[in-house]
Amino acid sequence: MVTTLPSIAIIGAGAMGGAILSGLVKPGVEVSGGITVTNRTTGKADAIRLDGVTSLALERDPDANRVAAAAAKVVLVGVKPAMVPDTLAGIADALQPDAVVVSLAAGVTTATMEAILANPVLRSMPNTPAVVGRAVTGLAAGSRSTPDDLALGRAVFETVGTVIEVPESQIDALSTISGSGPAWVYFFIEQLTRTAEGLGFSADQARLMVQETWLGSLEYLAASGRPPHELRREVTSPKGTTERAIAVLDDADLHALFTRAAEASLARARELAAGA
Ligand SMILES: NC(=O)c1ccc[n+]([C@@H]2O[C@H](COP(=O)([O-])OP(=O)(O)OC[C@H]3O[C@@H](n4cnc5c(N)ncnc54)[C@H](OP(=O)(O)O)[C@@H]3O)[C@@H](O)[C@H]2O)c1
Repeated sequence: MVTTLPSIAIIGAGAMGGAILSGLVKPGVEVSGGITVTNRTTGKADAIRLDGVTSLALERDPDANRVAAAAAKVVLVGVKPAMVPDTLAGIADALQPDAVVVSLAAGVTTATMEAILANPVLRSMPNTPAVVGRAVTGLAAGSRSTPDDLALGRAVFETVGTVIEVPESQIDALSTISGSGPAWVYFFIEQLTRTAEGLGFSADQARLMVQETWLGSLEYLAASGRPPHELRREVTSPKGTTERAIAVLDDADLHALFTRAAEASLARARELAAGA
């Protein structure tokens, strides 16, 4: 199946903007009208050499963001959150009137964007597995965006994974789970690897044992279509060794711990929104 998208600009094609770019240039995606991306430094811009992609640097062309914005029906904004208002102000009068502006930035509200732009806006929260086409992206409408604008945003992010549409009031909560989620997962993997090393395995063996167990378990979960508690029971024989380990984990009340961690994350999102 071929996904056809209208012209796209990525203002700030760094880690996250670049990950989305990798989805837009893969086979099966046609961006009619082309893709223009911008970065601040020439080195970063020149490192992006892809067919159908014009890569501009502000260092070389101070008008690069305006040139990119003027050429696109969808404008993704991938600069750091603190830079979003100034960046939007810089492109506001260069945008095509019907272009949809989609922010990738954490903590920048659609109200902030709409106060600067006359265009429809969307707010997104992708995560880093976008690099391998397995992102989870939360997508929220702005007050002026139409269902067609939202569908267009969905089509863009589906090139790098799965999209979950939520009201903007839930974007921070979604970010706590799927936006930060990769860091949680890597942290668990780090801890389990340390435990394996403590049991006498070499760093290499421990890495392999833990990483492959996570990957294999998740692939099995996805392929089986069965709920995780069922697959867990399959490994947990009554009076067996796994049962003892799970009992210890259960005693630690991981659910309460995870809830506290998520609440801490949400509290920080509120602080950031208040400018702290
Ligand atoms: N990383 C994540 O897990 C993640 C997840 C969800 C959302 N996000 C959001 O994605 C955004 C970018 O984060 P990131 O991790 O991708 O940061 P990043 O790698 O630093 O990317 C930002 C890019 O913006 C470029 N840039 C700086 N000033 C610019 C300007 N005035 N005009 C155009 N481009 C400019 C930078 O170019 P130079 O390097 O040349 O200065 C850089 O390539 C943030 O708003 C963040 O909240 C990130």
